[in-house]
Amino acid sequence: MKSITIIRPDDMHLHVRDNEALKCVVPFSARQMGRAVIMPNLKPPIVNVEAALSYKQKIMDVLDKNSSFTPLMTLYLTDKTTPDMVYQAADAKIVAFKLYPAGATTNSDDGVTDLFKLIPVLQAMSEVNMPLLVHGEVTDSNVDIFEREAIFIERILKPLLDKLPNLRVVFEHITTADAAQFVIQAEDRVGATITPQHLLMNRNHLLVGGINPHHYCLPILKHEKHRLALLEAVSGNNSHRFFLGTDSAPHPRSKKECSCGCAGAFSAHAAIELYAEAFDSIGALDKLEAFASRNGARFYSLPENTDTITLIKKEQIIPESYPFGQDKLIPLRANQTISWSIE
Ligand code: NCD
Ligand code: ZN
Repeated sequence: MKSITIIRPDDMHLHVRDNEALKCVVPFSARQMGRAVIMPNLKPPIVNVEAALSYKQKIMDVLDKNSSFTPLMTLYLTDKTTPDMVYQAADAKIVAFKLYPAGATTNSDDGVTDLFKLIPVLQAMSEVNMPLLVHGEVTDSNVDIFEREAIFIERILKPLLDKLPNLRVVFEHITTADAAQFVIQAEDRVGATITPQHLLMNRNHLLVGGINPHHYCLPILKHEKHRLALLEAVSGNNSHRFFLGTDSAPHPRSKKECSCGCAGAFSAHAAIELYAEAFDSIGALDKLEAFASRNGARFYSLPENTDTITLIKKEQIIPESYPFGQDKLIPLRANQTISWSIE
């Protein structure tokens, strides 16, 4: 049977929510990931060090005593963030700030209305070597949803990198050939995460044969040509700039299957197996370890994890749902199989 042993991976983009939901989902990531960059888009968002440290404690409290899973905390950038808040965050080992353009996605109402008014804050981030994580989509209602990422590059990302020559940026959950090309041609201060769903699915998986709300996430799934460009990016030139970030984003079934379903796909139950399937599909399993376990650590100036996991090419059946408080959580591949398993 085909198998591969890799350094334990890290998830550099993860939503674990709060309270009951947090208890349900954290163990899935802790089973396979060494560390995870925890997204701050709670209600209310995590905007200061105190809130981040108490959120971190809540995550630690649901872990097994012998778990070595480490949450890496982030703060939500708002119009009110100050340079002092950046220095405090650096002192408290907060790893990054996350930019949500106001209105871009789930819980982004407190997001930034004009990034270029925050230059002093971004300068402070450059000084302390703290990356800015960007949800890279413009939000103007007259921009087509499939074009929001490509337009973000021109309108925001390029000017941002020009104005702040030392700022380090992670272009989160990229979904287009445009974004992949941009990162390949950028400098090493630019990295990008890619989700399993964007490596495995295109917009047909969302819209053909009926609308599948569990495949609705933001940025939205794109045309097949973009998926192929992402697969090429993780295995080609400058692939060291791309790393694992699932964007696993759990929502209760009732909020997904309704007249206005919310954005987010849950993948933490089988993240590394889904990535293994994607890399295997293009014969690039030899590139999986760098993507999953080395490139992200290097970008965040962290040591690689010291233990390993072994993946085997053996089918696993994914349940139709997991318990989620009073509701249910529908995972990616619910009631279907994934062709890889953890040994
Ligand atoms: C995320 C969520 O639900 O928090 N949803 C999503 O579709 N990806 C937010 C985000 O990362 O955009
Ligand atoms: Zn996200």
